[in-house]
Amino acid sequence: MSRLAPEGTVLCALSDLEATGAKGLFVGEGESRQNIFVVREGDGVFGYVNSCPHIGVPLEFEPDEFISEFGGEILCSTHGARFRIEDGYCVSGPCSGDALEPVAVKVDGENVVMA
Ligand code: FES
Repeated sequence: MSRLAPEGTVLCALSDLEATGAKGLFVGEGESRQNIFVVREGDGVFGYVNSCPHIGVPLEFEPDEFISEFGGEILCSTHGARFRIEDGYCVSGPCSGDALEPVAVKVDGENVVMA
């Protein structure tokens, strides 16, 4: 589990996830600065480093487009790997059996923050 910023650091507003169900953003300073994304599912939010375990590229082609067309899974736009939202486990695609690197996030009022 990556800790990229202090607990409670605001990452985005919960409402930022409404359009696509997810949001890509940067967190951390200097060399530890990292591209992550957060996903909402029901009342829960989940965070992951934005790097596909297949070849290490960001998952999205379009801003904040991390969720598969039919919902319910995180999709890598490069070669189509699909990941479970709740734990980042790759259920199909070239990195099947691998997993996204989790980032600890939680809902705090109207915001998504570092957990
Ligand atoms: S880079 Fe993600 S599936 Fe190949």
